[in-house]
Amino acid sequence: MIGSEDIDHRAVDILRRNDRGHYTVPTAGLYPFQWNWDSAFVALGFAVFDRDRAWREIETLLGDQWTDGMVPHIIFRGSDEGYFPGPDQWGTESEPPTSGITQPPVAATIVRQLHDRDPGQNHDRASALLPSLDRWHQWFRAARDPQGRGVVAVIHPWETGRDNAPEWDAPLAHVDTTGVESYQRRDTQHVNADQRPRDAEYDRYLALVRFGREHNWDSEVIAERHPFWVADIGLNAILLRAEDDLAALAGDLGEAAIAAAAADRARHLRAGIETLWSDTVGGYVSRDLRRQRSTDIVSVGSLLPLYCGVTRPERAARVVATMRDWLKLVRYGVPSFDPSDGGFDSVRYWRGPVWAVINWMLADGLGRGGDVDLADRIRGDTRALVESSGFYESFDPITGAGCGGRDFSWTAAIWLAWAPPSRVAALA
Ligand code: DGY
Repeated sequence: MIGSEDIDHRAVDILRRNDRGHYTVPTAGLYPFQWNWDSAFVALGFAVFDRDRAWREIETLLGDQWTDGMVPHIIFRGSDEGYFPGPDQWGTESEPPTSGITQPPVAATIVRQLHDRDPGQNHDRASALLPSLDRWHQWFRAARDPQGRGVVAVIHPWETGRDNAPEWDAPLAHVDTTGVESYQRRDTQHVNADQRPRDAEYDRYLALVRFGREHNWDSEVIAERHPFWVADIGLNAILLRAEDDLAALAGDLGEAAIAAAAADRARHLRAGIETLWSDTVGGYVSRDLRRQRSTDIVSVGSLLPLYCGVTRPERAARVVATMRDWLKLVRYGVPSFDPSDGGFDSVRYWRGPVWAVINWMLADGLGRGGDVDLADRIRGDTRALVESSGFYESFDPITGAGCGGRDFSWTAAIWLAWAPPSRVAALA
């Protein structure tokens, strides 16, 4: 069996091969540009062997922030016909071209981790990123929660990062696809179609892109009329954790105004997230804000409140119990959907497979909450998946087989982030 040290070197090699100098592609072919939350996680991996490069990844990402504060989900650096939908479909007229939506804001949490690794040395680099992170988080509140509910909305399943999660089915069913012109999917030329979203979902994804393009990505129109306006429990939990980390980091760096603003937004979100609790299903769930209807679907997004800290102990215990129930039904955790549900599909993207970055967030939250054994189990399962199948995009929780893209940057990054200090020393 191949040793952990060899796997460390393979992980470094993947990051180097996917490195395009100042940003990293998630994987060649399937995702050939810069993706937002991928880049943030990738920085955790670079931090292990090349700290300067780790900072540059985030600096590049935030360098193309929109003037209104949004940080786009894709930044189209260069051209690649192998990806669809490209810049023309988005029509954002930004330079470099970008998509018109955002992605889960993990960057502030990761910047805090980079800073805490060697606080004395990175004061200036961390301080320089604070205003961008603050403006991005402010944008979430202004553009995506104009009514002040305490939870922010997403306008596309791609913003959640969990593209085809089952909780989007009901809100997507209301999206009219009549104007969508014929198109050719590229993703299924890189990866088996049974591991990707279905065509019916893709039609709706494109209808949503079209709505944004036709309305010039105008935040006010979007807030009033966008056909998909959903509070994702996962993204809200990630944003809350990011606000807490931004407040702490800004405090450490002596930026009192940013620290206070982030702490205020965090208070607001912490109360808002509790409104997403469903007594019907006994869990945190996403909500269709357009129709004021709870999705009442418990997916891995429902477990992410553990990452931002759940203030009500009985609810935290229930979330942990749900995770433990799921883990009894699979060989490798954590599945992205309830394995006992009829809609569970062990290979189809976000309807079952295990994702290393989700495991990183869950293990981190569980560790902070004192569930050390469960955190260890999740880290151990992730490592076992990589050892047996390699650095895939995601993994079948029943068989352990790799799914989606191979040589995936964020899977390599999480492997490295969890390598013990004795091994890391050999890589730097
Ligand atoms: C895709 O193209 O499948 C991506 O997930 C969008 O970010």
